[in-house]
Amino acid sequence: MDELGFDEGLLIPLREHYLSVVAGCLFPDAGGATLDSHRAFIVYYGPEADRDLDLHYDNSEVTLNVSLDEGFEDGELYIGRMYSDVQGKPQSSGSEYCPCQHKLGCGLLHRGQQMHGAFPLSSGERRNLIVWMRSSLTRNQLCPMCRRSPDLVRVGGTGDGFSVPDVNLCSLV
Ligand SMILES: [Fe+2]
Repeated sequence: MDELGFDEGLLIPLREHYLSVVAGCLFPDAGGATLDSHRAFIVYYGPEADRDLDLHYDNSEVTLNVSLDEGFEDGELYIGRMYSDVQGKPQSSGSEYCPCQHKLGCGLLHRGQQMHGAFPLSSGERRNLIVWMRSSLTRNQLCPMCRRSPDLVRVGGTGDGFSVPDVNLCSLV
């Protein structure tokens, strides 16, 4: 979405003025109050594309998932257990999931470490705006993907959200 010009006038102000405030209230222990970069993209499901998405966790501290379509059948999100706690300790396995219906124009905020996926789409097309929001303060201590202290290298842009003042970094995972 950044390459298409949506960051400057839309997604950065949305994160800075609204989403960080809400995430700071909901997920203060996961860096919700210190979200300082993001990566936004559109996911697409349809007859000629993927119809579902396996259980996974995100490369984010907090994720926003906004439904951009209607008129499709099934394909609900499902939300399960945490992958690990804020100290990086793996959580016990669990198979209980909460299904979440997509509703055009509505978004779901969840922790990046919350396991989730998408049930198979039966018909139609589904697009969602995904915003992976990152807190450099949080992830510089513990990489959310490998759950280790990151080894950082200098890159362009916002990298993977690891940063120190005026330097953007990504993690060697
Ligand atoms: Fe995801």
